Amino acid sequence: MARRPMMAANWKMNKTIREAQQYTAALLPRAADAEGVDVAVFVPFTCLHEVARMAEDTPVIAGAQNFYYEDSGAFTGEVSVPMLQDAGAGAGIVGHSERREIFAESDEMVARKTARAVEAGLLPIVCVGETKEERDAGDMWEKVSGQIRRVMEKLDDPDGDALVFAYEPIWAIGTGDTATPEDAQDAIGQIRDLLRELGGDDFAGAVRILYGGSVKPDNVAEIMAQEDVDGALVGGASLEVESFMQLVEAARETVPSDG
Ligand code: PGA
Repeated sequence: MARRPMMAANWKMNKTIREAQQYTAALLPRAADAEGVDVAVFVPFTCLHEVARMAEDTPVIAGAQNFYYEDSGAFTGEVSVPMLQDAGAGAGIVGHSERREIFAESDEMVARKTARAVEAGLLPIVCVGETKEERDAGDMWEKVSGQIRRVMEKLDDPDGDALVFAYEPIWAIGTGDTATPEDAQDAIGQIRDLLRELGGDDFAGAVRILYGGSVKPDNVAEIMAQEDVDGALVGGASLEVESFMQLVEAARETVPSDG
């Protein structure tokens, strides 16, 4: 069975509650007929409950950009998976490169967060990717495969629809410097092969792998056309409903119509 494409907006540290309301109000009617595509918006914690409330009973999934793996306790400043679910979230980004690079999140922490989300039924979008230096030194695969192995080690025979991976080369994020569609397919194809080795054929055939890094309306179609690319995680171009919807529509074009 074909994998269901996903188009995911990562607002990062942007938008007030009012701006989030305006965005969501404009998005919902337009996303309502994005048949066959999962549309997800990853919003700041402060907006999450409101966006989730507005998106309830619609196909749009509200998600968080981060969370901790313990459920409660003395962890000042952290938000847990049950708290996100209580606020209405259906998904959460884990291990975004900005979390890893700016806030020193380790592979171990990313793996634990992923395992907690899978266990609780919150869909984690697990980000992996290399820096420019690592790529230039020929270490891209060592980095990315290591990040994925650490996550898979913590999971107990997961279903392919229990999590999503996002390959986001760090040098392509927010730089306008997108990976070529061939580079994206190359990396994501290798990731799928590794997931086959670690999780078996059914898992690797079902798990969705997104591309992220300067995805825009003018490059999304060729990226989405790649065999192993199941969607995109988008920062800059997701901040306006108009350009995000162009991306959603490009994802929709890849859905076979079965009459
Ligand atoms: P960008 O961000 O689309 O602005 O490059 C992508 C991401 O960080 O998820």
